Amino acid sequence: MKHPNPIIAEMFNTEQFAQTGHQIIDVLTAHLDANITGASKVLNWKIPSIEDNNWNAPLPHASTINPQGLLDKLTLEILPTSLAIHHPHNMGHQVASPLPMAALCDLVAALTNQAMAVYEAGPSATMLERQVIRWLCALIDQDAWHNAGGVLTSGGAQANLTALLVARQVSTSKVEPTSNIWKDGVSKQKPLKILASEHAHYSVSRAAGIMGLGTDSVIKIATDQSGRLALGALKTAHQTCLQNNEIIIAVVANAGCTPTGSIDPLQAVGDYCQSHHLWFHVDGAHGASALLSGKHRKNLSGIELADSVVWDGHKLMYMPAAISAVLFKNEQHSYAAFSQDASYLFQGDNHEDEAFNLSYRTLECTKRMMALKLWAAFSLYGINGMGALINEAFAKAKILADKIEKKSDFELLMKPETNIVCFRYLKQYSNQAKANKHQSDIRRHIIESGAFHITQVDLHGITWLRTTLMNPFTTEKDLDELLASVDFASQAVLSMAE
Ligand SMILES: Cc1ncc(COP(=O)(O)O)c(C=O)c1O
Repeated sequence: MKHPNPIIAEMFNTEQFAQTGHQIIDVLTAHLDANITGASKVLNWKIPSIEDNNWNAPLPHASTINPQGLLDKLTLEILPTSLAIHHPHNMGHQVASPLPMAALCDLVAALTNQAMAVYEAGPSATMLERQVIRWLCALIDQDAWHNAGGVLTSGGAQANLTALLVARQVSTSKVEPTSNIWKDGVSKQKPLKILASEHAHYSVSRAAGIMGLGTDSVIKIATDQSGRLALGALKTAHQTCLQNNEIIIAVVANAGCTPTGSIDPLQAVGDYCQSHHLWFHVDGAHGASALLSGKHRKNLSGIELADSVVWDGHKLMYMPAAISAVLFKNEQHSYAAFSQDASYLFQGDNHEDEAFNLSYRTLECTKRMMALKLWAAFSLYGINGMGALINEAFAKAKILADKIEKKSDFELLMKPETNIVCFRYLKQYSNQAKANKHQSDIRRHIIESGAFHITQVDLHGITWLRTTLMNPFTTEKDLDELLASVDFASQAVLSMAE
């Protein structure tokens, strides 16, 4: 049916949707092919302040482009200045090179726009979400997690906040059964603390800030040489909190910490938390996907002891962003994060009734149909396929680390436990500041040249170059080229400084 208003008719023109849609798929297919083969640069670096001027056009009052113009803009400007996420030299951030079929599912999510706040606003989307949540819980542990549940959120940061809100509610009401921190606020409580690895993602301290605890309420627990939370330091911090009459709302361990990918000793930390009745939260945003691999899942042994787990789909499950899961061993806990009186959405406090109204348990009211793409990936490729991606990524990290160890002018930070490899270039530096600056200069040179995309991280005052090996198309030759490129960049920045 055609709308009588011509401009609205054009907006909802289904023929145009089909025609432009096919053309966009063709453009994206060519882009993907060029990326995968490494034919293009990984990044066409542009100075942001200059680039910004190109995006300062007046607000259009009428049409300025037709669909062909949109395609041209996409082909000539937008895609060429995107980070080529499927490029074999893309080894920077922990962002998936998404499965193309999952990306197609995101188009379905966009067009059908299932708001998902309540069941009736997205019936199939709700069921898809419940299905993938069940699968993820089963991957943690079929037995210990048989009463588990959770929800999908737009990102791991929000998932961590949700888990910590639950931990705060449960842990404070354990100490003072009549208290309700959600309703009464934090002022009526004893000081609240979170014990977290010093390598915890910033979203943990941000959650503390949001919850009104203050970011100083996060006590940073030291890690060992391998970047893993030191149990002795955890015990000491716990004792200090008890002496100070403080309530610990959660112990946060990493299953793949952001700087180095190290996995905390989940079994030991979990046992300690259980025997001291502490909420055990595992931030597995990055590394929980090791559960998909028969070879690597043993590295996460002890994760089943967690009260809550965060797991990102848009990292090692190769999903387009955003899709994260916040999972609770006891599904009832997932109702403890939020409580609201909104008769236009929710009709009661009965969890049975509200189980299908997902926004009862999330910060988001409207959210995207996130589960379709993950359901499709599991259904199309199975755990075998998803696990193969993990095996590839972790194997490549080991190959790179082995290569670095053999080079006298490179230093490897540690053997990788997952797929993150940190290293630095070595030469005679007069002081640490110069050594650090040299690594930053190398990285900047490499990124701006478009040769590779890598990141950097500061640990205990030392700057390291950081790579995240998660692109299935990165070959051993690419890894050799990376090290040659670091070497080259080092010479280049030194000669520029002279
Ligand atoms: C361990 C860890 N937790 C949480 C996050 C935040 O996840 P997101 O970027 O999906 O919000 C990250 C992001 O890199 C992470 O590495």
